[in-house]
Amino acid sequence: MKNNPLFFFFFILLFVACKNPQKDNPSTVKATPKHTEQDFAEGFQLMENNCFTCHSPNPLLENKVAPPMQAIKTHYITSKTTQERFTADLFSFLNNPTEEKSKIPDAVKLYNIMPKMNLTEAQISKIALYIYHSELEKPTWYANHYEAERKRFSAATALSPIEAGQQLALKTKGVLGKNLLGAINSKGTEHALSFCATRAIPLTDSMSVALNAKIKRVSDKNRNPNNKANAEELAYIETAKLAIARNENPKPQLTTLGNKQIGYYPITTDNMCLQCHGKPQTEVLPKTLTKIKSLYPHDQALEYSTGDLRGIWVVEMDVK
Ligand code: HEC
Ligand code: HEC
Repeated sequence: MKNNPLFFFFFILLFVACKNPQKDNPSTVKATPKHTEQDFAEGFQLMENNCFTCHSPNPLLENKVAPPMQAIKTHYITSKTTQERFTADLFSFLNNPTEEKSKIPDAVKLYNIMPKMNLTEAQISKIALYIYHSELEKPTWYANHYEAERKRFSAATALSPIEAGQQLALKTKGVLGKNLLGAINSKGTEHALSFCATRAIPLTDSMSVALNAKIKRVSDKNRNPNNKANAEELAYIETAKLAIARNENPKPQLTTLGNKQIGYYPITTDNMCLQCHGKPQTEVLPKTLTKIKSLYPHDQALEYSTGDLRGIWVVEMDVK
């Protein structure tokens, strides 16, 4: 019995099973002196607010508008890929998504190129950290870990009002972007026009309920007459435009009015927007233009280029 190899095998198996740290721990990433709980929390929340809307972690979801994050991870990270290499690759693509840079050309054919997002290098590094160290590529991650991860990390980050407002704006933008992209891909630009309206998006998540938040989008050159910026909003728009003219990222702003706090956040254009907000005839094609003119006879929201300030998010929250 003592020399029976099977016995040893059994013994080792038992040992491994008991030592497995994942067994009773629903989380999939661990803080180390190099990567703190806060870093992972920020990475996860950035993905919640900016990526998972299109790259759903739910492998069973139908009507996808983009490949699931686990598929992206396995294309970008092999056993030899270092975290530094992955971060650099992710930054290179997100900073300017093009077909040439794509590592998954089939995804570009299937879904169209990903719209550019305005994330800083620091934010992309945190996203890369989370993707690299988590186990989201495992088939059971969504079913077994996703909810636990949400709970764990929402407790880990206490957001200031200006950050909470920004998260709400980003989430709304994500839902809007997903609907818009889905509609353009399946029906074409002129049929997608109704998907650029925010009013249909209910803010139901726990954060917006807790903050009693309201969100709207306004512009100095509005398309919908209801989206016209008021005097305070116009003042912020001017500040944001000056920052862009200096090649800087416009900073969000928070104002207190009575028992309300109002956060202002910039909205800039990427390539995708120009098919409805760019140069008439060449970028906004005649068919689309005709439809826009019939829906919005007083439209001012044309002639934009990439990287322009298209408008702002206005998030109204209760003062705590
Ligand atoms: C509005 C929808 C949308 C959002 C939001 C979005 N993506 Fe994408 N993404 C896509 C689509 C569509 C593709 C597939 C086409 C492509 O590869 O460009 C894609 C592809 C990718 C790829 C693979 C690129 C390649 O082809 O090599 C990476 C990496 C990626 N996304 C990362 C992210 C990250 C990180 C976030 C969050 C910060 C994010 N995406 C948010 C739509 C989105
Ligand atoms: C398919 C066409 C289409 C695309 C693509 C599109 N928009 Fe729009 N956009 C519209 C329409 C239509 C409205 C008016 C929505 C409404 O009635 O509230 C609008 C309104 C807006 C508004 C609100 C202010 C206003 O002018 O009424 C902002 C801000 C905005 N779009 C930004 C963007 C950005 C940024 C992009 C690219 C990421 C984009 N849009 C892409 C059609 C589009």
